[in-house]
Amino acid sequence: MRKEQFICPYTVYDSIDELEPEDAELLRKAHEATRNSYAPYSKFHVGAAVRMANGETVTGNNIENAAYPSGLCAERVTMFAAQAKYPGVAIEALAVVAHSETKLIAEPAAPCGACRQVMVEVEQISKRPLRVLCQGETGPIMAFNGIESLLPFVFQDTLL
Ligand code: THU
Repeated sequence: MRKEQFICPYTVYDSIDELEPEDAELLRKAHEATRNSYAPYSKFHVGAAVRMANGETVTGNNIENAAYPSGLCAERVTMFAAQAKYPGVAIEALAVVAHSETKLIAEPAAPCGACRQVMVEVEQISKRPLRVLCQGETGPIMAFNGIESLLPFVFQDTLL
């Protein structure tokens, strides 16, 4: 037997000013998108924005429902909307941020497992590493170059 480790590299930026202009713009759009969030139950407003290979940006936000599991995370709303609007166009980067009505979120909002699984397939279709930027309402920004850093030992359907 042997013990092994999985290394998940990521970069931390202390402020939006340290980002490349196109990433800074994407993050700003994700923050704007939190305003459209429908989160009467959790009061946790998540915004997301994707940058596409055709130069378009698509934004989205979490949408909750009285039947809780029927709601959807901001990341999936955004990725699915982007794929629906621009089918076949690669998604290059995704920014996700969270604002809460009950406390200041000063740590990056990490995407949930189900959203990471969707990112896997977005990356596969896009044929390039997906850059993922995460931030709270304020505070540091975490950047991942490729979904493997966020979801090790990923499940991929071999039929694609
Ligand atoms: N949420 C997201 O939008 N993205 C995530 O990655 C995790 C959670 C939403 C779902 C729900 O509306 C609220 O945040 C609280 O879980």
